[in-house]
Amino acid sequence: MEKVIIAMPGNGLIAASLAKLAGANVSEVIVRRFPDGESYVRVASDVTGRHVLVVCTMNQPDSKFLAFYFLCRALRDGGAARITFIAPYLCYMRQDRIFQPGESLTSRCFAELVSGVVDELVTIDPHLHRNKAMSAIYSIPCTVLHASQLLSTYVREHFPDAVIVGPDEESAQWVSAVAEGAGVPYVVMRKERRGDRDVSVSLPLDLDLHDLRPVLVDDIVSTGRTMIEGLKLLSRQKLRPAVCVAVHPVFAEGAYEELQKGGAAVILSCNTITHASNCIDVAPLLASALNS
Ligand code: R5P
Repeated sequence: MEKVIIAMPGNGLIAASLAKLAGANVSEVIVRRFPDGESYVRVASDVTGRHVLVVCTMNQPDSKFLAFYFLCRALRDGGAARITFIAPYLCYMRQDRIFQPGESLTSRCFAELVSGVVDELVTIDPHLHRNKAMSAIYSIPCTVLHASQLLSTYVREHFPDAVIVGPDEESAQWVSAVAEGAGVPYVVMRKERRGDRDVSVSLPLDLDLHDLRPVLVDDIVSTGRTMIEGLKLLSRQKLRPAVCVAVHPVFAEGAYEELQKGGAAVILSCNTITHASNCIDVAPLLASALNS
């Protein structure tokens, strides 16, 4: 079946790389806002009988999702045979349980909306914590890719004296994979989050990390508080300035600048979300899922 790629606004670069690697054409879509804030969406080419891959990374999702939804409906109405949602970063994964009565279980709500309009989903390192698999919330087939090998290669080539530092216990599974692939040690901090921007971290006491280059790796950097507290802690231990690496550089407003001020030696990220810190290209990883 012929594959065509559609890039939602802001996803042109990664979609173009993907098209090249997957041997697919990029189809045009027109997405714009009416003066009153409503979305206009038009599929500008014939998608009848085609396998359409919609690339839309989902940071700032509330401003993107309706247009994405309208697009998928238009593709279906236009006769697309199969619709794959490629979300390099997938949102609404962190509210994965009801903490206080009356809260919306947004991970499930979002998954139901997506599962209703596409046939399958491909994403990278979704934040699976209390839900151990995507099938716990998504009713469509999901391909979960991991950036750990790409991170390992980067660390091995640029920081051979690294110690990988994970932000919290739940990161141990993938931090250990990054460290093993890079052939370096790792340590995992303990984190307590009391609010969006109220975080504290601690390290196991009996570790001597001197002479090593701390490389703080997190799946998502949002407010940056986790990394900033990690930087403070490492600096109190008089360790070398830490490298900060984000798989998903979400960077809420002001977070990147605060992280820079917080003493990071350098801030690096994967291009799951376009950002000045991007240095690890995930297009080949995404293409590997499409070609398999
Ligand atoms: C949380 O469990 C994640 O793994 C990240 O540690 C978290 O999303 C980072 O958020 P922030 O940058 O707001 O501290």
